[in-house]
Amino acid sequence: MSVHKEYSKLTTKRLFDMKQDGRKISMLTAYDYTMAKIVDAAGIDVILVGDSASNVMAGHETTLPITLDQMIYHASSVVRAVERALVVVDLPFGTYQGNSKKALESAIKIMKESGAHSVKMEGGEEISESISRILSAGIPVMGHLGLTPQSIYKFGTYTVRAKEESEAKKLIKDAKLLERLGVFALILEKIPAELAKEVARNLSIPVIGIGAGAGVDGQVLVLHDMLGMTKDFSPRFLRRYADLNEIMTRAFKQYIHDVKTLDFPNENEQY
Ligand code: KIV
Repeated sequence: MSVHKEYSKLTTKRLFDMKQDGRKISMLTAYDYTMAKIVDAAGIDVILVGDSASNVMAGHETTLPITLDQMIYHASSVVRAVERALVVVDLPFGTYQGNSKKALESAIKIMKESGAHSVKMEGGEEISESISRILSAGIPVMGHLGLTPQSIYKFGTYTVRAKEESEAKKLIKDAKLLERLGVFALILEKIPAELAKEVARNLSIPVIGIGAGAGVDGQVLVLHDMLGMTKDFSPRFLRRYADLNEIMTRAFKQYIHDVKTLDFPNENEQY
């Protein structure tokens, strides 16, 4: 590996420096080798192997069913593709809540078997013991507050979080606690922009938003949503950068037509 490549690799320290310098952090999800290779080569800073794989890759309604081994399968595929980005992997539901020893075992298994660089965990005070234990093993942890999809059945909806003062206060308290514990960055999902801005201003670690406005230190989106592959998910915060659903459908229809009309393969496309 060249010295230049080594230098340009994203690390948790470099993300911290980016925040101090006021440079925004770009982050996208990826779940497979081919997509991760394209995203990484485009220059993304952080790739999240999100448990949103449960939705967009496996078709589940929630993120709850995905297993540790399935996350490792996705994460190892992504790691094989990545040369520059920092790879963060979601610890899936049921692998870290309420049992810090199990949490550490789950994190170690992900790190050993996937080669990823860090893990992400949803929640604040209630998972602090698990976070501390994982950090004590030298594994970098990214926090996740606001809308935490693994707790969907507790809240019952995917609406904007922390609009009420009490919930906003708890979020601020949790964010400060996570920073004190030593997480290297924090995701804030679907909360009022003013609140997210206040949290980002008061923390020295990078705060990355999804549906949390422009006053944070970076942005993350789910790959299939921003590429316009998922048609049935249209929250206000989602900007679609392509309409791949349309482009792919057109290509598939053309292929079907060409096969049925004997246009494909032609003489140059055979041996
Ligand atoms: O799983 C995921 O994709 C996430 C992002 C929405 C932040 O956690």
